[in-house]
Amino acid sequence: MVMESPFRADMAKGKVALITGGASGIGLEISTQLGKHGASIAIMGRRKQVIDSAVSDLRSLGISAVGFQGDVRKQEDAKRVVDSTFENFGRIDILVNAAAGNFLVLSEDLSPNGFRTVMDIDSVGTFTMCHEALKYLKKGGLGKSSSGGGLILNISATLHYTAAWYQIHVSAAKAAIDAITRNLALEWGTDHDIKVNVIAPGPIANTPGMDKLAPKEMETKTNDYLPVTMAGESWDVAMAALYLVSDAGRHINGANMVVDGGQWLSRPPHLPKEAVKKLSRAVEKRSRAAPLLPRSKI
Ligand code: COA
Repeated sequence: MVMESPFRADMAKGKVALITGGASGIGLEISTQLGKHGASIAIMGRRKQVIDSAVSDLRSLGISAVGFQGDVRKQEDAKRVVDSTFENFGRIDILVNAAAGNFLVLSEDLSPNGFRTVMDIDSVGTFTMCHEALKYLKKGGLGKSSSGGGLILNISATLHYTAAWYQIHVSAAKAAIDAITRNLALEWGTDHDIKVNVIAPGPIANTPGMDKLAPKEMETKTNDYLPVTMAGESWDVAMAALYLVSDAGRHINGANMVVDGGQWLSRPPHLPKEAVKKLSRAVEKRSRAAPLLPRSKI
């Protein structure tokens, strides 16, 4: 479903955003919406063809966009891409860490290297990008002689709030991203006027993440697992990003914005709804009718 943005078309005008994982899924939609609202966009990803195609799509929408090939696991790539973004646009205002790795696996079948790989992409990669971008994002940093500090948006998840089947590596990695966010918000918010927030999407339709967690080959439909609402759309996540980028988000730092329609709160009910309607009053009536036991018998 294509929805109109409720934000002013020029709300991100003059800003420069670098988005890791910005060539596909949620990252691409954030790139597109930031671009449509006036920002210049740099996207970083591992696959040249995918980046080229995303950049050409963004440009066809009139967005000023460039793409850089790189792996967030390599510090030299992170540094090169951040520096190239600055060389290209003369400033960096927004860093979105959307690059992520995922696969379904039983904990007992996951090798330590498989665990480390996802930690490296999601958690260490997020920190590395923040580390390399600091000199551009901070108040008075390169390209920002007079203005305030920039904004970092980290893309996390909700699965680690409880526990998630076959996702021990991703749960650990996303928990680390949440912790990195709060600590940077505290230190860099205080010292450098940089805001650092997390967006935590639930299941989002038509994304590489969803393809991996609910592959087409599975017989069970994804919606069987979504009792509160259906899966969200990338657009929903991008609108949350725009809110945090907008002036309306100017006092929000260290926050975790869950974008899942309340899905993580839900558990399958232990009784059907009809049974609750029928039984609730009856149970209450029965308990009131029962004689109170003398204290000594309790
Ligand atoms: N089950 C169990 N282990 C797996 C696995 C699976 N499905 N897929 C990869 N691994 C393990 C590998 O066996 C290897 O560990 P080992 O050396 O002990 O054997 C380790 O993970 C690294 O795998 P490799 O294929 O070398 O890593 P890569 O760097 O080429 O790819 C991934 C990284 C595995 C995260 C890959 O899925 C990826 O590139 N993901 C990016 C896109 C994505 O996941 N998008 C969704 C985001 S939500």
